[in-house]
Amino acid sequence: MKKREVHIVGNWKMHQTLVEISHFFIEMSKMKMELKCKAWIAPQSIHIPILKEIAFTTGSIQIGAQNCCEHESGAYTGEVSPLALADIGVEFVIIGHSERRSIYGEKNEVLNKKVLLALKHGLKVIYCVGETLAEREAEQTFNVIENQLSIGLRNVTPESAHLLMIAYEPVWAIGTGKTATAEQAEEVHAHIRTKLKLNAEQTIILYGGSVKPDNIDSLLRQENIDGALVGGASLKAQDFRALCSSASTAMM
Ligand code: 13P
Repeated sequence: MKKREVHIVGNWKMHQTLVEISHFFIEMSKMKMELKCKAWIAPQSIHIPILKEIAFTTGSIQIGAQNCCEHESGAYTGEVSPLALADIGVEFVIIGHSERRSIYGEKNEVLNKKVLLALKHGLKVIYCVGETLAEREAEQTFNVIENQLSIGLRNVTPESAHLLMIAYEPVWAIGTGKTATAEQAEEVHAHIRTKLKLNAEQTIILYGGSVKPDNIDSLLRQENIDGALVGGASLKAQDFRALCSSASTAMM
C-alpha cells in the first residue's frame, strides 16, 4: 500500500485529432473499471476545453496543460497564460519538460517564473527534471537534478508547496523504449526527496520515460515512485487503462 496517492498522467504532446480523442474516450468508457488512482491527461492546449467537457461527463479524468507562459498577460503572441488556464478550470500544468528545455531553450530561471505564476493561480504544477545520457555517463545526474530543483523551485512558498509535484524523466529514456530500471529510478527519486525543502514526504514524484503496461508494476513497487508521466502509452485507451489499473492496485 502506497503512502502517497498514485498518479498516472498522460502527456499527449502534439498528438491526437478530434476523431482519435473520441475513439479514446469511447474505448475508455467501454472498459468499466473503478479508478482508485488519479488519472490525468494533458492534451494540446486547443483540445483542453473539449477534454474538460468529456472528462466532466465521464467524471474520472482530470485535464491539464503541457506548458504555460511565464507572464500573466500582455503582448506575448502565441503563448498561453496560467491565468487563462486557471480561468477555464484546468487542474494542472506540466512545466520544464525536457522537450521544452531542449527544443525551445527554456532554462531553469524562466521555468522558475512559470512555476511561481502557475502556483499563484492555484494550478498544480508537475515540474520536470532529468539528465541526458552524456550527463549520466559523466556521473553528473545528481548535480544536474539538484540544479534544476534549486533554481526551478526557488521562492516556492510553504503555502503553495502542496500544489507541487515533481517528474523525474531521464532524457535518454523518453520515447526511446529504454526505461530506467526500477532501481535506477528509485535511486534518483529518493535523492530528489532529500533535496526538496518543503513538504518533502508528501510530494508526489512521478517517473517518466518509456513507461508501458509491462514495466509499470516494478516501478510502482518502489518506495519513492508515486506514479508515472507517460507519453506514447497514454495515447491508446487500452494501454492507459492498463496503467491506471496497475496504479489502482498499487494503492490498495
Ligand atoms: P514516453 O512515455 O513516450 O517515453 O514519453 C515520456 C514523456 O516524455 C512524458 O512526458
